[in-house]
Amino acid sequence: MHLQSPAPFPQNRPRRLRRDAFTRRLVRENLVTADDLIYPVFVHEGTKRSEAVASMPGVDRLSLDLLLPVAEDCVKLGIPVLALFPAIDPALKTPDGKEALNPDGLIPRVVRALKKEFPDLGVMTDVALDPYTSHGQDGVLDETGYIINDETVEILTGQALTHAEAGVDIVAPSDMMDGRIGAIREALEVQGHIHTRIMAYSAKYASAFYGPFRDAVGTRGALGKADKNVYQMDPGNSDEALREVAIDIAEGADMVMVKPGMPYLDIVRRVKDEFKVPTFAYQVSGEYAMIKAAAANGWLDHDAVMMESLLAFKRAGADGVLTYFARDVARKLQK
Ligand code: PBG
Repeated sequence: MHLQSPAPFPQNRPRRLRRDAFTRRLVRENLVTADDLIYPVFVHEGTKRSEAVASMPGVDRLSLDLLLPVAEDCVKLGIPVLALFPAIDPALKTPDGKEALNPDGLIPRVVRALKKEFPDLGVMTDVALDPYTSHGQDGVLDETGYIINDETVEILTGQALTHAEAGVDIVAPSDMMDGRIGAIREALEVQGHIHTRIMAYSAKYASAFYGPFRDAVGTRGALGKADKNVYQMDPGNSDEALREVAIDIAEGADMVMVKPGMPYLDIVRRVKDEFKVPTFAYQVSGEYAMIKAAAANGWLDHDAVMMESLLAFKRAGADGVLTYFARDVARKLQK
C-alpha cells in the first residue's frame, strides 16, 4: 500500500507575490485615481455663508461665492465632476415643488457661474423634488398621500430642462419615478440639448443611510416619520435592480448608478457584469458619517479606511464613485 507522505513544501506559495511592495504594486488589479471621483456639494443662498452639517463632519453648506474656491480646488486636484445639491429656503417650498422649475433658482444660477468660471469642470445636478417640496418627498402627492408618478415625471422633465438650459453637463434623476429617463431624454433631444448626459440613479434603495444627507439639504424635518418605500427600492431585492437598470438604459441613460454604495457592492458587481455600461456607486452620507464617527473615536484609521473603501468600489466594478471624501482622496493620491 502506498502511504501518502506529507509534501515537504506547500504546492503553491501565493505569498511570493506579496513579499515585496514592487510585486504587490505590479500585480494589483484595481486602482483608485482622481478620475474616478465625483464630489457632492451642498449649496444655499447668500454670500459668505458656510454652515457645518453636524452629522457629516468636514461637510459644509456653502453659498456660491464660497463654492467657487472649492470648485477651483477640485480642478487642481483633477476631480472630473462636482454634483450639486441645494438647501432651498423653506419659504420657497410648496407641495408641488415648483421652485424646481425656476430658471433663476439657486441651482441654475450656481450651474451658470460654475460653467463660466471653470468650463472644464463637469457639473452634475440632482433631478428630484425633495429639496423643493414642503413635505420632503421626491414627487407630488395625491389626496391619500401617495406619490403620483406621471405628474411627477412631468415636473422632473421641466426641472432637467431648466438645468440643461443653465448649461449643466450631467443631469442625475434620483427620484425613482417610472419612465422619467425616457421623458427627460426625449425632452432634451427635442429642445436640442443633445450633449446633456444622463446619469440615472437606477438602483436607488429606500435606505436609512441617507439620514445625514437629509440634514444637509434640510428635508429631514419635513419628511418626519414618512419614508420613501413606495418609490425607492426594497433593500431585500437584487434582481429588481437589474430590471431597473435595463429600463433606464433602454430609455436613454448614458450612465447608471447604484445607491447606497458599500452595503450594496453585490448590486454594483451584478449590474456591471450584466450590462457593461458606465456604472457608478454613491458612497452616501450615512456611510461617510460612520467612517468619520469611528475615526473621531480613534476606532478606525481615517485615511486607511477611506482609501480601502474607495478601492472596494473599484474592485466591485464601479467606474467611479460619488463620495464626500473626494477631495481628501484626491489630495492623498497627489502625495
Ligand atoms: C434626493 C437624494 C437623496 C440622496 C441623493 N439625492 C436622499 C433621498 O433620496 O432621500 C442621498 C445622498 C446621501 O445620503 O448622501 N432625491
